[in-house]
Amino acid sequence: MKSQEELVEAIKEKYEARGQNPNTHLEGLYHSKPINYWEYCQIETLLTLQSTRTNIPDEKIFIMYHQINELLFKMVMHEVKQVASKIDELDVPYFISKLGRIKRYFNVLTSSYDIMTEGMEVKQYMEFRTALMPASGFQSAQYRMLELCFTDIDNLIDNRYRHTVTSDTKLKDKFEMLYWQGAMKDPKTGVKSDTLRLFEEKYKHKLIGFTKEYQDSNILKCYQSLSKEDQQSEELIEALRDMDYTINVEWVMSHYRTAEKYLESTGKTEAATGGSPWKKYMHPKYQKRIFFPQLWSQEEIENWGHDV
Ligand code: HEM
Repeated sequence: MKSQEELVEAIKEKYEARGQNPNTHLEGLYHSKPINYWEYCQIETLLTLQSTRTNIPDEKIFIMYHQINELLFKMVMHEVKQVASKIDELDVPYFISKLGRIKRYFNVLTSSYDIMTEGMEVKQYMEFRTALMPASGFQSAQYRMLELCFTDIDNLIDNRYRHTVTSDTKLKDKFEMLYWQGAMKDPKTGVKSDTLRLFEEKYKHKLIGFTKEYQDSNILKCYQSLSKEDQQSEELIEALRDMDYTINVEWVMSHYRTAEKYLESTGKTEAATGGSPWKKYMHPKYQKRIFFPQLWSQEEIENWGHDV
């Protein structure tokens, strides 16, 4: 730790270099209020963000658990951004340590689903969900952005149309072929559901901009930017494969099982608030969304999601 004299000198140098008077900043420090936990973490604001649409008690659990998920998505994004910004100077140990952080966030997301399945009465959910339509977790912009900053958009194209994409396919056309578009379009007419239409009204422009921003620096591109030798690192390959599996099979399946518990509770398969044909749509063996297909064998890709 610097001595008091050294600190004063460092402050002087810092502000003089910016053409500012260091004494003004020292006086500001003298007048500033002591910091406290509740203001620093904005706890009071945070605790005002749980407004329910009904008076059914478990709706609060539903909102808070979604909010916790969104905060963890933000933590994942925070790590990805740091990796992407270093694409020209990435080294393997740093990359692996960031992947480790992301994996731990997703482990929390995957293992905490029982907060819903054990902590929210089916009967209460079946009642309050009717007040939430057509809102759905499907409209989580952060989740969509996360996918787009992990991999190339081509790997997120609906499995049925992937073979039709060429190097001439425009980004706006690829966007219409994303795997999640199919779940919310009438298969006969192609008309978009309200859930999708409202989501696009708010986020389509942002998502397209985001795709452009990460098309050359997403996690897959970061891996491919490494030297051939670094790309062979078994530890790195394992970390990437592990993350792919954690997100695209384990998280997806925890979510799927949650949906199963609630939406099949009546003995028949109910639609969720977004109204997708969810049983098929959500299962990894149909979607086969894989962020790093280069790192999996043909056989592993064919059997994707079959082991769960
Ligand atoms: C009772 C709890 C839940 C049920 C029954 C449920 C059900 C569903 C269903 C059926 C879908 C497909 C779209 C639709 O038809 O609405 C969906 C999508 C989605 N939900 Fe949930 N969900 C639950 C909790 C959560 C939680 C806690 C999150 C965390 C943010 C979440 C995030 C998502 C995301 C990101 C999607 C889009 C995934 C994709 O496109 O594959 N859901 N959910």
